[in-house]
Amino acid sequence: MSSSASRPAPRPARKAVIPVAGMGTRFLPATKAVPKELLPVVDRPALEYIVEEAARAGLPEVLMVTGRGKAAIEDYFDRNPELETALEKKGDAGRLAAVHASTNLAQVHFVRQGEAKGLGHAVLQAAAFVGNEPFAVLLGDDIIDARDHLLEHMLAVQAEHGGCVIALLDVGMENIDKYGAVAVEPGAHPAVDGDEVVTVTGLVEKPPADEAPSSLAIIGRYVLAPEIFEVLRETAPGRGGEIQLTDALATLVARGEPVHGVIFSGRRYDTGDRLDYLKAVIQLASERDDLGPPLRAWLQEFVAGLPAEGASPS
Ligand code: UTP
Repeated sequence: MSSSASRPAPRPARKAVIPVAGMGTRFLPATKAVPKELLPVVDRPALEYIVEEAARAGLPEVLMVTGRGKAAIEDYFDRNPELETALEKKGDAGRLAAVHASTNLAQVHFVRQGEAKGLGHAVLQAAAFVGNEPFAVLLGDDIIDARDHLLEHMLAVQAEHGGCVIALLDVGMENIDKYGAVAVEPGAHPAVDGDEVVTVTGLVEKPPADEAPSSLAIIGRYVLAPEIFEVLRETAPGRGGEIQLTDALATLVARGEPVHGVIFSGRRYDTGDRLDYLKAVIQLASERDDLGPPLRAWLQEFVAGLPAEGASPS
């Protein structure tokens, strides 16, 4: 590994890796046969929002790390000539455009993980695709609102300062045991659009609240230096018996390699969590021009008719 002093000027990241091989146990039984990344958020799979985000951030080359039971994901990002012909015959230009959108977003490639051995192991499957360049990782069930620009900010930090960049969110001490938690120091770099940039000094995966270094959690966006692969190859299974990306990043920090954190101040939806998923669907649908007005009217009536908290619904 090169020391920070001898590191060549960083090249901007151009490739995105989206791991989608996880088992989605929090969303069973729905995810027994349907990948959680394809659950619809209003009328599009969660994963389409994420590929859109990568393309918007200037990352047109996307690798999905898939696994058994995830074939529908490959179908979704492929052409469907029969369906297209049927829509053409009907003159349904709107739906035809929507069907085309998923195939036109980016150049999507696939590799299989074989066994769901953890996020770190999933990222390791991208080594040949990535080569010796920095790259972004976007988790397949974590949606960042299109009006916020978290990934762009992270890419800018990486291009300027090198090393790795992770996205952080203050989830409160009561929730930190569900996430990777970090210790940070104020960074020497200015905030980007309200998102504070910090230096990460320690990381631990899913710590009990009384052992967590802070309430700052790692969320599903990373911009990584290619050195991560060599570390992942040496990383033993950690929490839950899985090869953890958090542990590999902790090794980089311990070696003195720079890991920056961008503290996100915008809107994020964890669609792998049932409650967050419901909130995402309602919020994004209520903001849409087509569905918003009738949905908002219904929601107001519905909320007005809700029983007081603690009482059971009739
Ligand atoms: P999660 O921990 O949220 O995914 O991993 P999971 O294991 O599917 O979810 P639960 O906790 O059982 O409900 C974050 C991302 O990493 C991928 C998942 O598909 C998800 O997008 N992942 C996770 C892999 O690709 N491979 C793995 O071995 C683990």
